[in-house]
Parts: sequence; structure tokens; C-alpha cells
Amino acid sequence: MKVRKAVIPAAGLGTRMLPASKAVPKEMLPLIDKPVIQFIVEEAVAAGIEEILIITNRGKSVMEDHFDRSPELEARLTASGKDTVLRDMVAISKMANIQYIRQQETKGLGHAVYCAKSFVGDDPFAVLYGDDIVMGPSATGELCQVYQRFGKGVLGVKQVPMEHLSRYSSLKTEMIEERLFSVSDMIEKPKPGEEMSNYAILGRCILPPEIFDILQNTPPGAGGEIQLTDAMKVLARSVGMMAFDYTGTHYDMGNRLGVISAAIEYGLTHPELGENLSRYIKEVAGRL
Ligand code: UTP
Repeated sequence: MKVRKAVIPAAGLGTRMLPASKAVPKEMLPLIDKPVIQFIVEEAVAAGIEEILIITNRGKSVMEDHFDRSPELEARLTASGKDTVLRDMVAISKMANIQYIRQQETKGLGHAVYCAKSFVGDDPFAVLYGDDIVMGPSATGELCQVYQRFGKGVLGVKQVPMEHLSRYSSLKTEMIEERLFSVSDMIEKPKPGEEMSNYAILGRCILPPEIFDILQNTPPGAGGEIQLTDAMKVLARSVGMMAFDYTGTHYDMGNRLGVISAAIEYGLTHPELGENLSRYIKEVAGRL
């Protein structure tokens, strides 16, 4: 079955990016000239996703404005003959059918995904965490292909240094082929000694609709939040899940180094900036 829907949880408080994220949602922080959320929507669209639900929160309606038409701006761009910019601005509002729902209380990623229950219905769906960017081929597209092959939930994973696993999750994996694993268990934010492998879920997954019944009965876990990993663990232990080490590079937009690294990476491939930025980086490196 083809995956046509995606959910982007973007209702977190973004405490690691304060003060930048105090009044501006961290999903709207720009990487040079494009907000984080647009990179994520573009990845979903590149995977063939047609309908997207963004989970928002108070103070985050600026994301809705970003994907809406902007008649005044468009009229000005038309009048001044800025046709290319105009075309790009209109294209943003036509990328996909985007809907929004508010998570009224910040009770965790699992709770945020549960807010998508009626949007998802009986379909499999992709989850793209709103503060994770993947540069390169669409990670969601790669996971969708694995879903189509096996018909099971698929986790986007990367190897993480053991000492950093306590910030992420850890999966019990068995390699099927290069980059592809079956998953029979997992743990969120493992304490030292609890790790199952150094593979962690990084920002992307495909889930079957059965996850909602599990989420409904998932108690708060690590950090007192309803953890999506705890619900996925139930799936992994019962019917099993798959994991795919996607080929793109992952950047965590919830922390400062992640934002800078992603901006540099994007800037180096930017048609107008790339060359000058590369020259500047070499100059700075020479001074270090
Ligand atoms: P994080 O825990 O990384 O985001 O959640 P956060 O809570 O905003 O970050 P910090 O730690 O306070 O800086 C992963 C994703 O889940 C979303 C976040 O927006 C982020 O995209 N999320 C998290 C929700 O939508 N709702 C929640 O209740 C929690």
C-alpha cells in the first residue's frame, strides 16, 4: 500500500534553542533563506506524499502563513517584474494539501502523533519530526519503499556514538541486507547499560494506523512525556518493525550546532552562495 499521508509534529517548546525559539517557532528558523519546516515539507512531497498534517501549538500559526497564498506580496512581485521569486512564492502554497491541528498541551511526541488520529484514518502514514532535517535523497521516500516491500512500520535510523544514545533511543536490530534491519525491541533514552545497539531513530518513520490504539494506552515515559518510542516498542515486540539507515545526512534543528552545520551544508550547495561561502569557510579555516 502506498503511503500518501504525512504527519509533522511541530508543537514542542524548543527549549534547547532559546532565546531564538521564544517568539519564533524553531521550525520557522531559517537555514539561510528557507525555514526548517519547508525543507521537511519538501522531503515529504519528494516522497510522493499528497496530504500533510502539521501538529502546531499556541504561537506557531506563522507556519500556516508560510504555506498560505500572500496576495499583497504576490501583487507587488508581479508589479515589479520579479517573476522567478513570484513563481517560487506561489509554489510554496501549492506544494501539498497541508492541514493543521493544535496539540493543546505539550505532553510529548506520542501525544502529538495521537492528535493525527482522525486525519490518518486507516492508512499508513509517515512521521517527519519537525526539528530534524535530512539533506540528500528523501529519507521519507526511502522508508516508504521499505514499507511497500514489507508492509510493516519502518524506522529511519542512524548509528549514534554510544555516549550520545541516552539523548535518543536504542534499537534491537538484526541486519537483513545493507542498510536494512528488522527490529524486535527498543528503548527510549537508555541509561548506561540499557543500550540494545548503537542504532537510534533519527527523525523519520512510517507507521501503520494500529499505532493509535497503542498510543491511547501508552502511559507517560521518559521525561514524563508520552513517548512515541514506547508505543512503537509494542509494535516491534508483537508484529515487528523494520529499520532503514537512510542515505541522507541528518541534522538536529533542536540544537545550535545542528542548525549551523545544516546551514553550512545547504549554503555550499546554494546556486547563488555556494562559491563565495566555500571561499569564506576556507579563509576562516586558515585562521583557526
Ligand atoms: P523534541 O523533544 O526534540 O522537541 O521533540 P522539543 O520539546 O521542542 O525540544 P526541546 O528539548 O524543548 O528543545 C521532537 C519533535 O516532537 C515535537 C517537537 O516539535 C519536535 O519536532 N513535539 C514534542 C511535539 O509536537 N509535541 C510535544 O509535546 C513534544
